[in-house]
Amino acid sequence: MSMRGFDVLVTERLPAATAQFAADVRAGLERAGQKELPSKYFYDAVGSALFEAISVMPEYGLTRADERVLREHAGEIARMAPTPLSVCELGSGSGKKTRWILEALYRGQNVSYYPIEISAAALASCERELSLVDGISVVGVEREYLDGLREVAARREEGAHLLVLFLGSTIGNFDSGADRRFLQSVRQTLIAGDWLLLGADLVKPLNQLLAAYDDPAGVTAAFNLNLLARINRELDADFHLRQFEHVARFNERTNSIEMHLLSKKAQTVTIGRAEFMAQFREGESIWTESSHKYSLAELKTLAIASGFDCQEQWIDQEWQFAESLFIAR
Ligand code: TRP
Repeated sequence: MSMRGFDVLVTERLPAATAQFAADVRAGLERAGQKELPSKYFYDAVGSALFEAISVMPEYGLTRADERVLREHAGEIARMAPTPLSVCELGSGSGKKTRWILEALYRGQNVSYYPIEISAAALASCERELSLVDGISVVGVEREYLDGLREVAARREEGAHLLVLFLGSTIGNFDSGADRRFLQSVRQTLIAGDWLLLGADLVKPLNQLLAAYDDPAGVTAAFNLNLLARINRELDADFHLRQFEHVARFNERTNSIEMHLLSKKAQTVTIGRAEFMAQFREGESIWTESSHKYSLAELKTLAIASGFDCQEQWIDQEWQFAESLFIAR
């Protein structure tokens, strides 16, 4: 394949975010063993819209379960919450399910809500959706989780506590051990008595999980494949999306659903802005995300190991999902 065009691109100055994206894609696809791409890049405008669609698919009960538990227990949570309180959310998405808790928390005193989100599109719709809630001032923070959290913590008012929302079971997308390290970092930005409300998907029957991550209408497949489409759009690459296939498998050893993009044939892909070509064998896959399924006991252990006490766990019966209230020790 011709490398023509690369000499032009070497001198091209990429915006910092694009340069980082290019470097991450290159590092992930040049790996000697299992190729991988970081899942944080799923959420461009198309990816965020596709995820919203996944969350209303009948097979993917996770988001609705999260929302149900929050709605059902919002009053109780609000009554227990320390005051004054600021709320910040790690990865707010559209912010739809956060509405219940914010409505319940407003008791005559204004509550500041800081959604922390790397997707500008998701952040904009979150700000739109939630600024309509009475007594809530929304301040969007377009940053990575921990950077955003540090920024919010630095603005803490005298005597105020923070309620950190980490919903949707994103915690399960960290590698084994990285979930604990991440929560330890969250704990370090907090003070004793601050709250973390953690949504986590629970272990459930295999067929239910496989359908949730590979729906027959192909919305989940489109979401996974959009990562390659995004690389095409932003990094001047030539992935043929029809030559890759979405695969979801369950790893019994780690209790995780693993998402891959499988190359249907031997092929070479040029990624212009990352200045390299990736080779794929037939059947070779790119690992894009894992989604760990927890037990209630495992979540309690996770709380202790990261400097919190697990105060309470609320469970959805229809779709096994838990909201755990962790209080910083
Ligand atoms: N973080 C979500 C989850 O683990 C995202 C998700 C849903 C996802 N379906 C997916 C990620 C398919 C990759 C592929 O449930």
